[in-house]
Amino acid sequence: PRTVTRGSDGVLRIAGIPVTELAAEFGTPVYLLDEADLRARAAAYRDAFDAAFDGLAGADVYYAGKSFLAKAVVRWIAEEGLRLDVCTGGELAVALAAGIDPALIGFHGNNKSLSELDRAVSAGVGRIVLDSFDEIDRLAGLAAERGVRAPVMIRVTVGVEAHTHEYIATAHEDQKFGFSLNRGNTGAPGGAAAEAVRRVLAAPSLELLGLHSHIGSQIYDAAGFEVSTRRVLELAAQLRDEHGIELPELDLGGGFGIAYTTQDEVFEPTEIATALAKIVEHECAAYGLRVPRVSVEPGRSISGPAACTLYEVGTVKQVELDGGVTRTYVSVDGGMSDNIRTALYDASYSCTLASRASTAPPGLARVVGKHCESGDIVVRDEFLPGDVAPGDLIAVPGTGAYARSMASNYNHVPRPGVVAVADGTARVIVRAETEDDLLRLDVG
Ligand code: LLP
Repeated sequence: PRTVTRGSDGVLRIAGIPVTELAAEFGTPVYLLDEADLRARAAAYRDAFDAAFDGLAGADVYYAGKSFLAKAVVRWIAEEGLRLDVCTGGELAVALAAGIDPALIGFHGNNKSLSELDRAVSAGVGRIVLDSFDEIDRLAGLAAERGVRAPVMIRVTVGVEAHTHEYIATAHEDQKFGFSLNRGNTGAPGGAAAEAVRRVLAAPSLELLGLHSHIGSQIYDAAGFEVSTRRVLELAAQLRDEHGIELPELDLGGGFGIAYTTQDEVFEPTEIATALAKIVEHECAAYGLRVPRVSVEPGRSISGPAACTLYEVGTVKQVELDGGVTRTYVSVDGGMSDNIRTALYDASYSCTLASRASTAPPGLARVVGKHCESGDIVVRDEFLPGDVAPGDLIAVPGTGAYARSMASNYNHVPRPGVVAVADGTARVIVRAETEDDLLRLDVG
């Protein structure tokens, strides 16, 4: 978080509060969410996209709730002028409980159930992103029954695989999301995506707002977006020629990268917005299309850097490696149940001794959890002061996205709570689970 400072006592402070006090009050492990930081990131996106698309047809920013969702966060992002992307009935329930205007919600997912679609239509969500022919039929029938016209977008698989630094064109057809542009798919230009448009246009209960594309996550440059935008707009031009329509909206998805360690780059909102505006304007001109209203769906880059996880050290063990190197295994009171990303994606994190100063020489350390797996690693490699000991607090930054939202109860470990800190005050926004919570579900 941006408001992290370290006092002369060596204790980390978040929004002015020493983490030692937060640990004493709320226990560990705990996710500490810096409200001002999250709000500032949301506002930076809104400002950057407002500025870059001013003079074009404007832009909307949808916060991707899958990265971290809680009622408080829904209210903050709405107050900062953002919209919200949800992808399940559960996320929709949180959004509606938070009181956000349903018209500001976009609903994703490759297998939304009839009941989820029904709730979305009844609530009046602003857009449903269609992902399959089954879903087109399902939603068209449902909306017709309800006597409403459901606003929809069509998710297009553009055949761009976005990796951290490179993209491999046409390499990513073989996955479950969206409608393929691949000509081989139907034999016709525009592939399954063009066919999806035909079917939506033929359904009077569906209102087609535009096309949608999302190319991946942890992207650090605009190259992949250039290709995806070109391919989606090529389809838009084909639809104009075929149906005489120009779609008013275009969604380019999320996936903007953040720095987990000092080795990582960053992709800042102004850089992203300026690049996307230029690409959209250029490609629209090339195809002779009117510039649509553009939307994006950042999740990680808004919530990720805004939180850290605070753990308490339980045991410290020295392990001799080949070549006479010693690695210190520092076991903390959480692990893969509160952050699966290291185990699942081989993700890199950093960490720091948060509860005191130390002048001890740093040594190679690995921070591990309390789960019964050797892959239960929180931070693979870090240099920590050689005197790290039980009772010390360790902070892992950058855990605001896809940590709490992917947390589990593996080994019957209760999931930690989320404490929001702002202006020198701290409050629980997601309560920590207890063993009673776990036992309540076990009704056998
Ligand atoms: N829009 C769509 C359609 C998406 O599928 C996603 C992410 C986003 C937006 C937001 O992407 P972001 O800006 O947060 O990168 N669990 C993985 C990430 C999965 C992302 C899934 N979709 C991780 O922990 O890295």
